[in-house]
Amino acid sequence: MLKPPYTQYDQLYVYNFDRIDLGIVDDPDLIGTWIEDDTSILFFHKEKQSLIESICRQSGAQIIYEANLNYQDWEAGLDITTFSVPPLIVAPLWEVNQLTATTENIPIHLDPSVIFGSGFHPTTRLCLQVITDILTSNSDEIQSLVDLGTGTGLLSLGAAKLGVQQIRAYDNNPFACAVAEKNVRINSCEKQINVLETDLRGALPDTSVDLVVANLYKGLLLDFFQNPDFWHARYYIISGFIPSMEEELLAALPMNQLKLLERRKSETWRLWLLANASV
Ligand SMILES: C[S@@+](CC[C@H](N)C(=O)[O-])C[C@H]1O[C@@H](n2cnc3c(N)ncnc32)[C@H](O)[C@@H]1O
Repeated sequence: MLKPPYTQYDQLYVYNFDRIDLGIVDDPDLIGTWIEDDTSILFFHKEKQSLIESICRQSGAQIIYEANLNYQDWEAGLDITTFSVPPLIVAPLWEVNQLTATTENIPIHLDPSVIFGSGFHPTTRLCLQVITDILTSNSDEIQSLVDLGTGTGLLSLGAAKLGVQQIRAYDNNPFACAVAEKNVRINSCEKQINVLETDLRGALPDTSVDLVVANLYKGLLLDFFQNPDFWHARYYIISGFIPSMEEELLAALPMNQLKLLERRKSETWRLWLLANASV
């Protein structure tokens, strides 16, 4: 994530090691470390060849791949800039000075880092739109929320800024959790949002809340759908799938207790808003 003297992301230097036990990497140019399966991926603002060689020497690790790309390429060619999902206005940290808060404009300051959830992926944007729609029309109904796979924490932040008081935000990526925690802090939402590092495969959290948001991948959604303990919430926003997956996902829904309130699409991505008739 961004630490002084850095105020934005420009070039990314990415090193993927074949293990996770690299020892402590304390470097001023380190953006963060992803742990993925049994490998670690280190992101830096600068080229770090000699540091990488020293890490390999000391830990016995080897490099699987390395890459140098600019931030825009990491973000699928998009320029990460301020955008609005009324009444929310989301600004990356390097643009917050241009924000003016008004009663119609509720600002969110975001360090998107290299974590999913900048707001520029169609699924994130769809979820944020539906969250704002629900909370601006039925705000009293939604007091608690679970965000499954929070990434940068943006969806939880949107809900918190619109008044949801109790939010649990889960992710299995420790770096995502660190970025989400930072974003919670800089938006002063610590009393409302609790970020929890949890692998949701086999560890489903308590879903007895008003709204569950799950922008995830098909395999994990299917696991959830087939677990009766997933279905304790009043409403569900489900996204992260494309039309070719819809039939299989629909077939896994316990439709005897659910009502499909809305289907939305953006580019090739889909979202469902479900209501639970049994709650
Ligand atoms: C598609 S991203 C969505 C991020 C954010 N909620 C958004 O809408 O932009 C999915 C997130 O789920 C997390 N994730 C994937 N598998 C997970 C698992 N087994 N347990 C917990 N989190 C997981 C990823 O690390 C990632 O941050």
